[in-house]
Amino acid sequence: MELNLAHKNIVVTGGANGLCHDIAKAYYEAGGNLCIMDIAPNLEEAAQSMEKDRKVMHYRCDLSDIDHMEETYEAVKTLCGGRIDVLFNGAGIQYRAKAEVFPLDRWKKIIDINLNAIFALSQLAGRDMLERGYGRIINMASMTSFFGSEMVPAYTASKGAVAQLTKALSNEWAGRGVHVNAIAPGYMTTKLTADMKEKNPEQYREITSRIPMKRWGTGQDLCGLAVFLASEAADYITGAVIPVDGGYLGK
Ligand SMILES: NC(=O)c1ccc[n+]([C@@H]2O[C@H](COP(=O)([O-])OP(=O)(O)OC[C@H]3O[C@@H](n4cnc5c(N)ncnc54)[C@H](O)[C@@H]3O)[C@@H](O)[C@H]2O)c1
Repeated sequence: MELNLAHKNIVVTGGANGLCHDIAKAYYEAGGNLCIMDIAPNLEEAAQSMEKDRKVMHYRCDLSDIDHMEETYEAVKTLCGGRIDVLFNGAGIQYRAKAEVFPLDRWKKIIDINLNAIFALSQLAGRDMLERGYGRIINMASMTSFFGSEMVPAYTASKGAVAQLTKALSNEWAGRGVHVNAIAPGYMTTKLTADMKEKNPEQYREITSRIPMKRWGTGQDLCGLAVFLASEAADYITGAVIPVDGGYLGK
């Protein structure tokens, strides 16, 4: 059983900030050759902040621009020396509004980044992985992959679809060496959720009291599973959408 990721080329989308930055760092620390893809202004410094004995590569792109995904993918593949072993689809956005007034342009942007980009990038990476007979794709799902929540219709629709896409890709590719899984974080303290604490304190309190561990999670709570799924220790796991939620779903 091997949790060491040395010699694996690992690409993390959304790796400049938040949960995926912590996950990217964990991949680097487990020995992986890391490339982070992001649109954030702090991308370069985020990559540099992780560096110890090896370089962390980075590529700036707007993942919602799927018409140019092929160019983006080829550029990242080149940065990785022509081979990507692990693709972590982490980038995601959120917008909170009542369904009856939810702006359609926000809907489209969320579906483009949270869902369409994952399919477009996984398709390109998957083709190469299938040719080599090896690959690991890990998608960022959510609690809203399992239930609907409120005031986040586009996010819920996208994350429900990410869970199903994970299974659909796994069904087609698992027999050819490409495993596809998803991590479904519970309620995490991040920029994405900070506004709930202020804008909807009642919902915030209600959620906290429902979490059996009585605390919101952090990026660190996701790192063990992210490294495990990318490693040989998880070689018989595919098509799984695994919650990391302090017990929330079990309640
Ligand atoms: N925060 C939570 O509680 C929570 C819970 C469950 C799932 N998630 C998921 O985890 C992932 C990360 O969430 P986070 O809270 O760390 O968010 P975050 O906003 O801190 O980080 C998201 C990163 O994605 C990047 N990104 C956004 N749009 C992009 C685009 N068009 N092209 C390239 N990069 C883009 C951002 O620049 C940022 O660096 C998301 O997929 C989110 O849905 C978060």
